[in-house]
Amino acid sequence: MSATTPLLDAASLPFEDYRHAPDAELDARIEEVRRRLGDELLILGHHYQQDEVIRHADLRGDSLKLSQLAAESRDCRAIVFCGVHFMAETADILSRDDVTVHLPDMTAGCSMADMADLDSVEAAWSDLAELIDVEDVTPVTYINSTAELKAFCGRHGGIVCTSSNARKVLDWAFANRRRALFFPDQHLGRNTARAMGVPLEQMPVWDPRRELGGNSPQAIEDSRVILWRGHCSVHQMFKPAHVAQFRKQHPGIQILVHPECSMEVVEAADLVGSTEYILKTIAEAPAGSSWAVGTELHLVNRLAAEHPDKAVHFLSPMVCMCSTMYRIDLPHLAWCLDNLTRGTPVNRVQVPEDVKRWARTSLQRMLDLG
Ligand code: 13P
Ligand code: SF4
Repeated sequence: MSATTPLLDAASLPFEDYRHAPDAELDARIEEVRRRLGDELLILGHHYQQDEVIRHADLRGDSLKLSQLAAESRDCRAIVFCGVHFMAETADILSRDDVTVHLPDMTAGCSMADMADLDSVEAAWSDLAELIDVEDVTPVTYINSTAELKAFCGRHGGIVCTSSNARKVLDWAFANRRRALFFPDQHLGRNTARAMGVPLEQMPVWDPRRELGGNSPQAIEDSRVILWRGHCSVHQMFKPAHVAQFRKQHPGIQILVHPECSMEVVEAADLVGSTEYILKTIAEAPAGSSWAVGTELHLVNRLAAEHPDKAVHFLSPMVCMCSTMYRIDLPHLAWCLDNLTRGTPVNRVQVPEDVKRWARTSLQRMLDLG
């Protein structure tokens, strides 16, 4: 494929040529590259992507499904990831060594993933080691984290989780060790551990900017799950008052939320689960049923359009959209694909080998749970 045999001295096509191109022209360019490269190209798309982008994806899914798809990819030589940076890193870690992974816009990050960095987690780990036996602590990182943190978990007997397998992962962690350090999303950690019966008093929150994470030594000694002080800026916008308002205005409505929402929202809801679970639940719901859904706006709008026989509402009166997912747009996708097919690949996401090895260990532990 031309993507792996760059033209001699060829400069990549400039993005500026794409920025203002009409959508119809960009659609046509994207489809032309897909036709030309066939099975050698795999476009993966997260459910939060905008409609105009996701319709060009070969496969779509939540974070778990997308990581499984990357691990299973056989024929492709290049993966173009319509999602955010940690997802592209995960695809690079799990795909074959000769597959290149590209993110159409390198500024598509995740603000939650940015809330935990390797230095802070290592500092927390050594602070904890002063008080408790860290050999008895499983570090668990949400997949929304850097490859370096996944490698940290790999090196310390830890594991990765996603929003659809967090319970299974914590069960595994507790079968091996007494405690877990869960980062970066405190809400997913709290919601999951609470559903397993861990009392709130045994879940101190670790604030990396404060001494001992802002906790007393006793609180750490009593802990079962130490929750990192991180959150998703999109899901934190949903409030229990929104749930109450919908129940008042639409008697019989069902409230379906993502586990990145706060504990108060999850407790007020009827059902909780990952984006894949949300999709399945609405798809299988009877015609005429009515739902208020607490997750990213593009997904909820698409669900409402795809199921006109059901009433699907967005749970918040505010616009809760993931602004970094939104950075992947038609101009960036077309620009990335044209450069790929021309042999001047851009925006390759490449995890260094030493990080990759240990990050794969913690991801594989998760995938092995099924
Ligand atoms: P899932 O893909 O696991 O549902 O997580 C949603 C999300 O916030 C991705 O960043
Ligand atoms: Fe990160 Fe939240 Fe966006 Fe997901 S929705 S990518 S957790 S900021």
